[in-house]
Amino acid sequence: MSQKISITFLVENSVHEPGLKAEHGLAWHIQFGSHQVLFDTGQTDLLVENAHQLGISLDRLDAIVLSHGHYDHTGGLAAVAATSACPPVFLHPAAREPKFSLQPDGTPRFIGLPEASRAVLARPQGKIIETRTCTEVVKGLFVTGEIPRRTPYEDPGGRFFLNERATQPDPVRDDQAVFFDTSAGVVVVLGCAHAGVVNTLDYIQGLNPGRPFRAVLGGLHLLNASPERLAATVEALRQREIPLLVPAHCTGAAAVARLWESFPGRCAAPGVGRRFAFER
Ligand SMILES: [Fe+2]
Ligand SMILES: [Fe+2]
Repeated sequence: MSQKISITFLVENSVHEPGLKAEHGLAWHIQFGSHQVLFDTGQTDLLVENAHQLGISLDRLDAIVLSHGHYDHTGGLAAVAATSACPPVFLHPAAREPKFSLQPDGTPRFIGLPEASRAVLARPQGKIIETRTCTEVVKGLFVTGEIPRRTPYEDPGGRFFLNERATQPDPVRDDQAVFFDTSAGVVVVLGCAHAGVVNTLDYIQGLNPGRPFRAVLGGLHLLNASPERLAATVEALRQREIPLLVPAHCTGAAAVARLWESFPGRCAAPGVGRRFAFER
């Protein structure tokens, strides 16, 4: 029997429908057959408000998956935990590491898991599933775990560090994506793709040998990408013949424009409230 899947932006940097609000961050609601999974939680409690507006109930989630530890993907965890009956949280252990970025003027800024989100993860009744390797979240829906970095042209995409003095670079080892196979190919849902979108697709391809890609949705984190990286990324995406691309969140305006120009008729805009349907 076929299974219906719908993926909705609960939080994104833009809105798709009136009555919804945007913030810098990302959160997806994934209705996977009878299962409901939340992938990332945005930056604040906004996802709860947007979910309410969209008629999506967050009180019966089967799982929460965190793509990585940055605040704009994990900051809404406490708000979700307050409405939901404590579903298991899937995350790579490095998501809990202290995380900093350097501002343009060189000042360090804490960008890791906010205190309130840490408190949720520390609750004794909470079930945490550490995803060092590929892990099934609900039947047929997987999270990659740590993604091997193979391409010579991809890097984490910013000045990220594990300490405030900015002496220890953060490779964002925690970065992971969600994927599932459908009758038409593999759908990949990205958080920020700090591992590199091509590394991510290559890893998922290896886990799904011989299967085409159906869609790639989410943050491609190309906002600081060099022209060489951008060109190599576009070429790699071209070779993979992806019918639907939804570059969102941290992809960066120049990269979004380049993708739309390079893949006419295959790109769709993101935005809170936007929904994509698949079948498997
Ligand atoms: Fe992000
Ligand atoms: Fe990030």
